[in-house]
Amino acid sequence: MGTSDTKTVELANYRPTDFVLERVDLTFELDPTNTKVDARLIFHRRDGADPRAPLVLNGDELTLSGLLLDQNEVPAGQYDVTPQSLTIRNLPEAVPFEITVTTFINPEANTQLMGLYRTNGVYCTQCEAEGFRRITYFPDRPDVLAPYTITIIADKAANPLLLSNGNFLGGGNYDEGRHFAAWFDPHPKPSYLFALVAGDLGVVEDTFTTMSGRDVALKIYVEHGKEPRAAYAMDALKRSMKWDEERFGREYDLDIFMIVAVSDFNMGAMENKGLNVFNDKYVLADPETATDQDYANIEAIIAHEYFHNWTGNRITCRDWFQLCLKEGLTVYRDHEFSADMRSRAVKRIAEVRHLKSEQFPEDAGPLAHPVRPTKYREINNFYTTTVYEKGSEVTRMIATLLGAEGFKKGMDLYFERHDGDAATVEDFVKCFEDANGRDLSQFSLWYHQAGTPMVSASGAYDPAAATFTLSLEQMIPATPGQSAKEPMHIPLSFALILDNGSTAAPTAVAGGEVTGDVLHLTERKQTFTFSGVSSRPVLSLNRGFSAPINLHLDRSTDDLVHIARHDSDLFARWQALNDLILPVLMEGARDVRDGGTVTCPSAVISALIEIAGNDALEPAFRAQVLALPSEADIARELGSNNDPDAIHTARTTVLTAVAEAGRPVFQHLFETMKNSAGFSPDAASAGRRALRNSALGYLTYAEQSPVRAAEAFASADNMTDLVQALSVLAHRFPDAEEADAALGAFVTRFDDNPLVIDKWLSVQATIPGAGALDRVKALMENRHFVASNPNRVRALVGSFAFSNPTGFNRADGEGYRFLAERILAIDPKNPQLAARLLTSMRSWRSLEPVRADHARAALLTIDRSVELSSDVRDIVDRMLK
Ligand code: PHE
Ligand code: ZN
Repeated sequence: MGTSDTKTVELANYRPTDFVLERVDLTFELDPTNTKVDARLIFHRRDGADPRAPLVLNGDELTLSGLLLDQNEVPAGQYDVTPQSLTIRNLPEAVPFEITVTTFINPEANTQLMGLYRTNGVYCTQCEAEGFRRITYFPDRPDVLAPYTITIIADKAANPLLLSNGNFLGGGNYDEGRHFAAWFDPHPKPSYLFALVAGDLGVVEDTFTTMSGRDVALKIYVEHGKEPRAAYAMDALKRSMKWDEERFGREYDLDIFMIVAVSDFNMGAMENKGLNVFNDKYVLADPETATDQDYANIEAIIAHEYFHNWTGNRITCRDWFQLCLKEGLTVYRDHEFSADMRSRAVKRIAEVRHLKSEQFPEDAGPLAHPVRPTKYREINNFYTTTVYEKGSEVTRMIATLLGAEGFKKGMDLYFERHDGDAATVEDFVKCFEDANGRDLSQFSLWYHQAGTPMVSASGAYDPAAATFTLSLEQMIPATPGQSAKEPMHIPLSFALILDNGSTAAPTAVAGGEVTGDVLHLTERKQTFTFSGVSSRPVLSLNRGFSAPINLHLDRSTDDLVHIARHDSDLFARWQALNDLILPVLMEGARDVRDGGTVTCPSAVISALIEIAGNDALEPAFRAQVLALPSEADIARELGSNNDPDAIHTARTTVLTAVAEAGRPVFQHLFETMKNSAGFSPDAASAGRRALRNSALGYLTYAEQSPVRAAEAFASADNMTDLVQALSVLAHRFPDAEEADAALGAFVTRFDDNPLVIDKWLSVQATIPGAGALDRVKALMENRHFVASNPNRVRALVGSFAFSNPTGFNRADGEGYRFLAERILAIDPKNPQLAARLLTSMRSWRSLEPVRADHARAALLTIDRSVELSSDVRDIVDRMLK
């Protein structure tokens, strides 16, 4: 936040504060434009700290209106103050002292959505990472922990609800129609976990009895009238609480757990202690308005924020370089939770698709950084898919290396040893080392080296010796600031699959460590020899995506089909099919770009159709197989000189070929996969919907007519089917009457539901082709589009830039110019949102030269602007470097 002249922060410069914060006492007198904040802070000088060191507190756009030291006014000569900092000198050397800071802030004018702001008439805070300093002068860093007492005073009629962290102490009437409430959070916490909410909201209530028998009150606050739409979130919360007890032995630790849904929020949700604040999109759901994906997201994010209570809150981060300590670990925990709630294999496939489509491009482009970075200019820009998703994969690899038991021992030690601490990644890793007697120093490179490792593998079978030899070589590409890399410890799950589909059990292995079905690649080049392999096996490698790598392994179509049919690991079967189809799509895109035509091998097509029609396989899995690699996937794999139009044409040609060859199968699926009973959001029913909608998509390719999709739209009885039919119509027949009619009917029906309108905006923003930009511009004038609301902006501008390869990457560069304009308009109001949108251009260097030139020019327009936020400045600088 703030202006663009911020300096780089370096991990190497970390040192603890000179003062220890003992307790925090805050009083808020809420007013929409002039809120008074009194902060009483008790400090003592840290043992061994310089006796003359001043106390330096952070601020951001603050004005000081009162300053007391032990209740006496501080003389002007004893302190210095700017909007960014408050420095107080001559403080007691050996005894605790109390500082009282008074500030006035304007929540209504806070468009950054950091600090205390207003959303739909509700007061709400967002403090991670450095928003607390926009409320009062404070040591705003995660290693300063204290118990907080909060008093909130506000107009009673407008704000019947006054919430903060911890347990409710009491409240009552105050003066002039005002009332107050007091909260106490006994668990020492850093300021980024502070929260306050005040307003008039409806509530859904429940209770949870913890494993030691304590009753916890559960409350989800939503806008009045939306209570029924919070039922699924409540159910997900209770399942999360139970699961964390059973799987990780973690019990909740306050009398009450609250979630508040707000409509203006920069991120998904926030884990404030005892008072989570959520983007309402990740709370509200019912069959009429939420898709299966919405339900899955709600379940995962409710769990994620709840799990932070231990991994993030009870044990927090020493500094923001350690962000993955809480985020990577908590994503891993929510992934495991969803895997237990749903189909593990299908969940894993979805995770890997997401990792490859989001994190791999980040790791391969100008914004690449290690999971544990060592410097940053703007911390807001480090809430990345690398910190979150690659961070989760690193945690998963620890579990793979140590096995379930060893992983549990390490986690138990972590909770025991570091409860109440602000810890580091090194502390975390040490727990696994100590609990298992294992050296993880080479493994730790996963935290420090950026870039997706590339592993080349080749296998050779020697029938005479009955040995299978596997040669591996790893290469980690150069990334910004890191040119030379050390070989990493890469755990590769594997199987040698025999002709009859069974797995070979070699009698011995030489060449490196193998534990169970995991092979440990630790050297740059390494050869493993398996003996006692009596017939030629097919190698299945990196099963379950045990390591987040790019694997290069040449296998024949026959061998891949063999794995697709026989591997006992469903993920590996999906991977094999993906490995079959991806080269076809890549070849096709190259051929189209160079003026040729697409060839589509029939063996590949029939392998896909065979899986589609195999009723022994769960529908959700078949739907994943049928969802061919996306245009972005193809672009990423091609890596350079990309022409998005050629990729689109090639992919459409392949889809059509599959559709024509599999028409009877798709017809059958479309007819039989309908759920007969009423709507249920469970994974099995969702899987049937996914497969049926996939069949609809293919049938539309085969039939070249909007009629079936229009019928599906008319007869849909849930949002998943409705929005799928709508996208088929809009994306495939944008000029047809049927598409127009469906878009019109949709917006009329959901006129009063902004979250559903977001789907309508995204569907239109992602219509392929150069015409999308004019549609997006027109929609910006639509009364449903609210330029200050991050969800609306992401649905329209974000979907266009991130998810419409042919529309955004128009050959004339108009898409990039439009985005640059939007960014410059949004940046002064909401820099985080602007910076996030700009990352959509992170792969600009892999475009063909004409588009790349247009993209560079648009980036330079942003770069030349003098008034950039530090958020956008940081991103644009790195993108142009
Ligand atoms: N800590 C939040 C989460 O992962 C994300 C977040 C970051 C929200 C910064 C707001 C601001 O769950
Ligand atoms: Zn998180």
